[in-house]
Amino acid sequence: MKMLNITTVINEYQFNELSEDDQKLVENAKTITNNSYAPYSKFSVGAAALLDNGLIVTGTNQENAAYPSGICAERTTLFYANSQYPNNRVVTIAIAARTEKGFIDMPIPPCGACRQVMLETENRYKKPMRVLLYGEKSIYEIRSVSDLLPLSFNASAME
Ligand code: THU
Repeated sequence: MKMLNITTVINEYQFNELSEDDQKLVENAKTITNNSYAPYSKFSVGAAALLDNGLIVTGTNQENAAYPSGICAERTTLFYANSQYPNNRVVTIAIAARTEKGFIDMPIPPCGACRQVMLETENRYKKPMRVLLYGEKSIYEIRSVSDLLPLSFNASAME
């Protein structure tokens, strides 16, 4: 037996330690949570994607009475960005979430399906996509989606 170790690097920041650009992106993710449609979970999620042309595209989670028909903020945002600007890669995506009590303390962990979609976006443009996960107490920066989804399924597995 051989043990394989996978290491994930996460940089933890306080809001005021972020660059001005990152602060702006996080603020966009926080503000857009106001447009979330989450009558069932009451968990409002916002995402803001910075494209390589400087544009910021935002999106939110959209729920449905038939629960699986809803979609997370990350996928809303990335599918929209890739639909409208297929030639502009996403450099950084920031994600924020709040309950009825306010923004959550710890950085929002994206669900598995969103990690898979984020990875596809990263692989599609062949450059690392940075991820900023907002929490009131700290913010995590992950420099590549591959760190969020080790041992991932991707196109190379089908070769
Ligand atoms: N949700 C997101 O939009 N992003 C995440 O990273 C986690 C979960 C949404 C899905 C659903 O509308 C609500 O949050 C509760 O799961």
